[in-house]
Amino acid sequence: MKVHTQIPLRNYTTMKIGGPARFMTNVHTKEELVEAINNAQSQNIPFHILGSGSNTIVHDEGYDGLIIRNCIEGSTVLSDSASSTTLEINAGENWDSVVKRTVEMNLRGIEALSAIPGTAGAAPVQNIGAYGQEIADTLVSLTAYDSLDKKWVTLENADCEFSYRSSIFREGEAGRYAINSITLELYKSRPEPPFYAAVQEYFDTNHITQVSVADIRTAVMAIRADKLPNPAEKPNSGSFFKNAIVEEWHFNDLIRDYPSMPHYDMGNKTYKIPTGWLIEQCGLKGSLISGMRVHDKNALVLINESANGYGDLALAREEIKGAVRDTFRIQIEQEPLEI
Ligand code: EPU
Repeated sequence: MKVHTQIPLRNYTTMKIGGPARFMTNVHTKEELVEAINNAQSQNIPFHILGSGSNTIVHDEGYDGLIIRNCIEGSTVLSDSASSTTLEINAGENWDSVVKRTVEMNLRGIEALSAIPGTAGAAPVQNIGAYGQEIADTLVSLTAYDSLDKKWVTLENADCEFSYRSSIFREGEAGRYAINSITLELYKSRPEPPFYAAVQEYFDTNHITQVSVADIRTAVMAIRADKLPNPAEKPNSGSFFKNAIVEEWHFNDLIRDYPSMPHYDMGNKTYKIPTGWLIEQCGLKGSLISGMRVHDKNALVLINESANGYGDLALAREEIKGAVRDTFRIQIEQEPLEI
């Protein structure tokens, strides 16, 4: 196992910000993954598993520990029945390649998660979601190395405690488990309406009535290409904020003042309000704040246009959070993880 030193992490995250990793190693097998974690623990240095860095923000000081890049690829069909196929996918697989393959197999369940940057192993951490699907809907279980109890474990869906853009891997047990593979059960039945509004609009415009999983992938890819900047051209981390969840009394106050506010009833007397809409109402859509551009097609996305490091990103973030807090009395949360 080769360990590299002083590797600039800005080159390993799509936001292109951040200082160096003291140590970095790429692991290609389960054994190498355990060896890397053991090495870090025996020397009392922290470790962090990095996928493709599309949801990670690094500080200017960098990371004073070992960055482990999981490059374990491959997938296996575990079982196949008349109605579904169960697949195990290794953590280092590119997520969109996985979606592409399953769509080619005409399997339903993750087609709306097309074109999300990142790896398969990172997908459960923030419970990736888009256009009406979340990975929590199809994930049966995952295998991980438990760095606390020093053993391999299988965690079932319920063990992961999935919620909107979160799981135990992000909150509760952050840093404990190194995800090695995910197991998904995908279905052979045809996709059925209702479809997410933007997807249905695409079908209407393109006169698609008999919807296949491939049609959903095509629609989602077109919508994303229009709304989300390509990180290879414009450094960004996708949605920079989570959508806001507010309680009923607060929602009632807001809808009185803003009758056209988009919202989704989440049950349990809570409502989800799109943070992109909140930021746009504050007049910040398209603005440049300390080198960070609030994307002019989707105010939820921040593009690193000319930021001088993490400090500038933090200034922009605080200004946006402050504006939303002052206008709506809502405390919005950052979506990408920080190391
Ligand atoms: N909106 C605005 N102004 C904006 C942005 C959005 O008014 O600048 C409004 C839209 O008009 C719409 C509503 O907000 O009424 C929701 O917008 P959209 O459907 O584009 O989705 P989103 O809430 O902005 C979430 C996810 C995306 C995912 C889309 C599609 C989060 C944090 N983001 O965005 O995920 O692709 O839904 O399902 O939940 C990501 O996490 O990186 C990501 C891109």
